[in-house]
Amino acid sequence: MRHLISMRDIGREEILNILDESERMEAILNEKGHCDFLNGRILATLFYEPSTRTRLSFETAMKRLGGNVIGFTDISNTSVTKGESLADTIKVISGYSDLIAIRHPSEGAARLSSENSKVPVINAGDGSNQHPTQTLLDLYTIKREVGHIENLKIAFIGDLKYGRTVHSLCQALSLFKGVEIKLISPDELKMPREVIEDIAGKIKLSEMADVDIDDVDVVYMTRIQKERFVDVNEYYKVKGIYRLSKEHIGEKNVVIMHPLPRVDEIDSEVDNIPQARYFKQSFYGVPVRMAILKLLFEDSVK
Ligand code: CP
Repeated sequence: MRHLISMRDIGREEILNILDESERMEAILNEKGHCDFLNGRILATLFYEPSTRTRLSFETAMKRLGGNVIGFTDISNTSVTKGESLADTIKVISGYSDLIAIRHPSEGAARLSSENSKVPVINAGDGSNQHPTQTLLDLYTIKREVGHIENLKIAFIGDLKYGRTVHSLCQALSLFKGVEIKLISPDELKMPREVIEDIAGKIKLSEMADVDIDDVDVVYMTRIQKERFVDVNEYYKVKGIYRLSKEHIGEKNVVIMHPLPRVDEIDSEVDNIPQARYFKQSFYGVPVRMAILKLLFEDSVK
């Protein structure tokens, strides 16, 4: 693995290898809190779009591995404002760092970055396209909290059109046996047909607008991505369409996940029921990103 750009580029064995390494990283976090696998190495975090979890968990992961971090979160303070191209920015920063994590509003920006970089590039989210490190931490959460990925029954609810986390995760789940996926969204926010075509035939899929979460192991809620709508009036038509409450969950044996941030799609009273795992899920971002940084760096120096 040279770069981590799309879940389409990764096989089942590589995923399982990353999840095993993540378990070792979680044990290190629990025992000592840090290690020196990437001592003296530098991660550049280039965030052309806002982020809380992805950027800060990458930075935490790099520091827990003994490394250092450079980067930016506000392009108005960079030479992007003078018209510097993404390719040129990457050529320069790959001379300053050992690994690059980039979030960008344009689909394909991470791939373009990898083509211009001397060091491994990690896609930390490109537009509505892909968010592979979120997918790996989601799979890790499923493994830890449900106990199995194979034969998983999962319902995705909300914005399946613009939500990049569900695109990546559906593609990854299609590599595992016996997985069943319910796609629950309004018509306007259905999963893109190209993602469906990618996974159809490999996985049992159903699409619906009404929430039906009987017989699922995981409920994966998503935020309606206001920032991706071309016409904000279209957003207001679907805003608040789904709102998960304690009553929906009852005594169901289910794990509730959400990539976060949440707006109004999960009542805050759900946070305190045992089925809610979304804050634990966000914590798992640290060991999983430690594993990704370590494995990519090791591969880059082989
Ligand atoms: N889940 C996720 O990508 O969160 P951030 O946008 O805060 O990084």
